[in-house]
Amino acid sequence: MEITGLTHEGFGVGRVNDRVVFVPQAIPGDQVLLRLVHVKERLSYGDLLRVVEPSQDRRKPSCPHAELCGGCQLQHMEYGAQLSWKRQQVVDALARLGKLSVEVLPTIGMQEPYHYRNKAQLPLGRQGGELVMGFFQKGSHRIVDLSTCEIQHPLITTLALAVKKAVQELGIEPYDEQRHRGVLRHAVIRASFSKDALMLTLVTRTPELPQQAELIARLSKEVPNLVSVAHNINPEVTNVILGKETRIVWGAEYLEDSIGHVSYAISPGSFFQVNPAQTRVLYDLVRQNLRLTGREMVLDLYCGAGTIGLYLAAQAGKIVGVETVEAAVQDARRNADLNGIANADFYLGRAEEVLPRLIKDYKKVDAAVVDPPRKGCDVAVLNALAEADVPALVYVSCNPATLARDLSHLAGLGYGVGSVQPVDMFPWTSHVESVTMISRVK
Ligand SMILES: C[S@@+](CC[C@H](N)C(=O)[O-])C[C@H]1O[C@@H](n2cnc3c(N)ncnc32)[C@H](O)[C@@H]1O
Repeated sequence: MEITGLTHEGFGVGRVNDRVVFVPQAIPGDQVLLRLVHVKERLSYGDLLRVVEPSQDRRKPSCPHAELCGGCQLQHMEYGAQLSWKRQQVVDALARLGKLSVEVLPTIGMQEPYHYRNKAQLPLGRQGGELVMGFFQKGSHRIVDLSTCEIQHPLITTLALAVKKAVQELGIEPYDEQRHRGVLRHAVIRASFSKDALMLTLVTRTPELPQQAELIARLSKEVPNLVSVAHNINPEVTNVILGKETRIVWGAEYLEDSIGHVSYAISPGSFFQVNPAQTRVLYDLVRQNLRLTGREMVLDLYCGAGTIGLYLAAQAGKIVGVETVEAAVQDARRNADLNGIANADFYLGRAEEVLPRLIKDYKKVDAAVVDPPRKGCDVAVLNALAEADVPALVYVSCNPATLARDLSHLAGLGYGVGSVQPVDMFPWTSHVESVTMISRVK
């Protein structure tokens, strides 16, 4: 079969007798031999048996885990081709789902697209009696035992291997997902690029982590960059990694990192962009697009730990952020204090519920940044922004499909779209991020 397309999950797409077939590990231009599996009426999946004729964009993955590990989807594709494909994803979504013809600029990639991530969530378990720790295999809960990782900050891998060794030597039982027994479920590791520091969160099923003191003593000795250890308890049968209860058990309360001129204190539970280098590129684009003069009232909707708003605060009159996760709102307020920023307020709640009240209170909103999760903006948010006649919007999107839907809705409300700028936040994966400038035209 010839591969002619690529799905947003990074599966190659082709046709066999008018049947659409998705094939993991295949890219456009490949001629492949495959075995059909999961055959459905319209759509089937195939297992790649052999690449008969490789695409000119195919490369040999440089990571030994590439074939099994679910962390990266495009290790077998040249980086330049990934950037073009990400742009094309946006073009296609805008045309097909949004019926919009908008200029989409070439994707801004990384000079060195390696070791860019600042966060890893590593499950632990036992396979064939052996302790394993790493990433889930593609489409399964089998753990790929980690020895190296090309996209994580190198210190994350150093700490991960040290955790595994100490857990093994101290006889701490890993979680058994099948039977919901055992103790240690995940090690969540965060790295600060600016401080070369690490925060470790150990997630247990049980209220106690046996050998906790000894474990921490060993890790802090072996990995001097470790500055903070948290214990999170998650007794539920669930795929959600963190439970409700988190305590710092050693070291600093927060991990400190910076994006450009702003410092951020990050707690174990809060959202922080995972690629700090490209986050700076992304936030600079937001700032350039808004061309603030120092007087504007700017909304930062879906603000996480307030990162975008605080980045803009020096150029704005007032920043008002809205976010649903309480810990993130607390982080945002602390981050404002940490940076001596007095013109930023953060509200807890859903953007669609809080926004009408904010518009009433502030009367005039000069600009809004929206950075929603994959499902995009609630239609009530878009309607409220239009009703308040907000002249300039910047849409940061991690999903071209919902971006297209929302831009199309905004077009109906009298907004015009400038260009869309894709930014590669996640090299070697199929994730597509973009920044769009939108302004009031009618
Ligand atoms: C893609 S993140 C953006 C975070 C932040 N702007 C940044 O750059 O780090 C989306 C955020 O929206 C929050 N969120 C999800 N639904 C929301 C809603 N209905 N109203 C407000 N915030 C929401 C999530 O908790 C998450 O922090």
